[in-house]
Amino acid sequence: MTKSFGSDNHSGTHPAVMRAVMDANTDDAVAYGADPWTERATAELRRLSAAEGGVYLVLNGSGANVLGLGLLLGRHEAVICAESAHINTDECGAAERILGTKLLTVPAPGGKLTPELIAGRLSGRGDEHFAQPGVVAITQSTEVGTCYSLAELRKVHDFCADNGLRVFMDGARLANAAAHLGCTLAELAEHADVLSFGGTKNGAMGVEAVIVMRPADAANARFLRKQHMQLSSKMRFLAAQFLALLDGDLWLRNAGHANAMAARLAAGLAGMPGVEVVYPVESDAVFARLDPRHVAQLRREWTFHVWDEATSVVRWMTAFDTRESDVDDFLAGIAAATGARPA
Ligand SMILES: Cc1ncc(COP(=O)(O)O)c(C=O)c1O
Repeated sequence: MTKSFGSDNHSGTHPAVMRAVMDANTDDAVAYGADPWTERATAELRRLSAAEGGVYLVLNGSGANVLGLGLLLGRHEAVICAESAHINTDECGAAERILGTKLLTVPAPGGKLTPELIAGRLSGRGDEHFAQPGVVAITQSTEVGTCYSLAELRKVHDFCADNGLRVFMDGARLANAAAHLGCTLAELAEHADVLSFGGTKNGAMGVEAVIVMRPADAANARFLRKQHMQLSSKMRFLAAQFLALLDGDLWLRNAGHANAMAARLAAGLAGMPGVEVVYPVESDAVFARLDPRHVAQLRREWTFHVWDEATSVVRWMTAFDTRESDVDDFLAGIAAATGARPA
């Protein structure tokens, strides 16, 4: 198969992660997280994020979102999120079904919420006939590959704090944001009450961390993780994956590489007739508009998603293992499909 540009989920597992899982496969270990690997991984994640509440490893990103939101939501409360938020578009209504909450969605240019956009969703506050906004969910990096700057995050967080709202950050691609912004995990985490930190899209086989910033919000985390079926019995294999990603900052190097490959793709597209990049390229995704006939032609050989059929926008994603030559071959394919001359 030619390299997929469909998703960072399409890539395999980083060899160091695979090795760490193999190395953890020795003797017996106590189950459900009472093992030395989990103790080390969660302690290190706690240190890196400066979280005082706790760190809870889970199996997937949707589970991380349900658990994270569940820790912050009251029974009558709703979640304000961007229309494009993964919790709204791609999780089969899990938050609504499992938490019984309501998503108050906002059209958000570039996938980002602002205090103004959030304020526009607060009108029913105090009226018992309306689901009460309790949590604001943001995604970093966003579903359209953009990143909130630290100043933008601060504005959202300050507004929420001033208005009695809690912040949940979906960090399935938090590593890509850290690499793009050149900041630490703690600098991102301080703008959320609870966040997820993804490993799966960044070289792991399947593990995410739910990071709880303050102890009061962590009181029920262990119980809710179990109820949401996110407590892995053989937790050491999840923890071993994170330990490999944290070792020598592999998580940051993987994300930085994926970002660089997306930037290389975007640079190659610049000035290519018939291809319009529609969002700033700030992580591992390039969104582009091209003629539907050219999309169809390109999809004969290459794997990627059509993001929006109506506007003929596609999503091209890179990953930790995308090579420069993969990008260059893909660029040549795009040039051939669109009739452009390769640079
Ligand atoms: C922003 C974001 N959040 C959460 C998820 C959910 O992850 P999973 O598919 O592991 O449930 C994804 C997956 O693509 C995602 O892109």
